[in-house]
Amino acid sequence: MREDILQASRLIREAHLVVALTGAGVSVESGIPPFRGKGGLWERLDPMEFAHIDAFLRNPARVWDILVREMKDIVDRALPNSAHLALARLEKMGDLAAVITQNIDGLHQAAGNRDVIEFHGSFARQRCMKCGKIVPTHLVSLKSLPPRCECGGILRPDCVFFGEAIPLEALTRSQELSSNCDVMLVIGTSAEVQPAASMPRIAKYAGARIIEINTEPTPLTASYSDLWLKGRAGEVLESLLSSL
Ligand code: OAD
Repeated sequence: MREDILQASRLIREAHLVVALTGAGVSVESGIPPFRGKGGLWERLDPMEFAHIDAFLRNPARVWDILVREMKDIVDRALPNSAHLALARLEKMGDLAAVITQNIDGLHQAAGNRDVIEFHGSFARQRCMKCGKIVPTHLVSLKSLPPRCECGGILRPDCVFFGEAIPLEALTRSQELSSNCDVMLVIGTSAEVQPAASMPRIAKYAGARIIEINTEPTPLTASYSDLWLKGRAGEVLESLLSSL
């Protein structure tokens, strides 16, 4: 067993409150591409042109056609992978209190985690911009774009676009958990997008140990992380689980 994994396992066993912050890297093994780096979505598409709320408001049909349609195809087919399943198992064992996720794919819940904070909202739901009605994404027809609600309003993903605020409850709970945890697992995130990236910093300043799981170093690795468990989220989390 890797020494760094044994160290992480000791920190988790001694902790009273363990929280995970997850990002796109956790879902890569489910076939969902990340945003940054090689093969990332923002390598092909300019986020300011497709993922900013102003771009959506200017031309919702174009954003639906190019970005949202593709995401719907990918997310509709994706299943939880060994990283999601290991995190669900950690919660069941009482070793993980909550998952703060930047992902909008619903895979943590599908794997069985019960306390999941969707920091950037959810792609499982579409919201009418006129009457606020929520429609499950799998029921939305793409025959005519942008799709509309019965009331005639435009449907939009119930996700946070660039330029929009984080849902208040998600932000408040995440800040609370970050301030109170003894260990934060930071998994598969480039830690570049605020305010999500400030959660490990809040945790660190409040005295928590930061355990990063990532294939690559991030801006946190040198200055905030106590341990960097280098590797793919699924493999590392499975080893961690078996060491507990
Ligand atoms: P990124 O795409 O920025 O970063 C993904 C991270 O996962 C990188 O640090 C990779 O090194 C790492 N990674 C890739 N494969 C991995 C694997 N198999 N195991 C472990 N790590 C792996 O994704 P996020 O940090 O989630 O925002 O991006 C944050 C936000 O930026 C997203 O929520 C989205 C995006 O724009 C919104 O949509 C508002």
